[in-house]
Amino acid sequence: MLVLLVGFMGAGKTSVGHALSDRLGWRYEDLDDRIEAREQRSIQQIFAEAGETGFRQAETAALSELLAGSQAMPGIVALGGGAFAQRDNTELIENAGATVIFLDATAEELFRRCGQEARVRPLRHGLQEFRELYDRRRPAYLKASHRIDTQGKSVKQVAREVACCLGVGK
Ligand code: S3P
Repeated sequence: MLVLLVGFMGAGKTSVGHALSDRLGWRYEDLDDRIEAREQRSIQQIFAEAGETGFRQAETAALSELLAGSQAMPGIVALGGGAFAQRDNTELIENAGATVIFLDATAEELFRRCGQEARVRPLRHGLQEFRELYDRRRPAYLKASHRIDTQGKSVKQVAREVACCLGVGK
């Protein structure tokens, strides 16, 4: 089984992915890490040098590579916040038969969580813009197989709920 964690910036895809991987003993991968390794530069550098268009091309190439090599073992993959909102990517994901989990929270909570992290996010500016982008992407996220509300919950609690909804919970 291949499980993809999707949702907006700050949804907890990476931290929940790690917690779930520990809990289930499944391998974990972060799509952004694969992009950086393939491109030999950081996400921030890709945005600065190739723009969002260049980043999206690199993202689709990395996703396609990941899905092609992911059939052997059960795994959990955290996608970057924009990946599941791109039509090319959703087609690749559908064809791969992956289970997609949408980690949800309000824009205010997501914005606040991002502000607590040291990581630079090229698409996080003011709250207003953040909220507008989130609203534009929400219809795409809602096409996931499952939605988990993460508002006010710990990473451990969300990981438990994801495991439950996959039917592998203890
Ligand atoms: C992006 C989110 C980031 C990263 C890139 C673009 C987006 O990942 O992929 O900066 O378009 O929302 P996180 O969701 O892990 O922050």
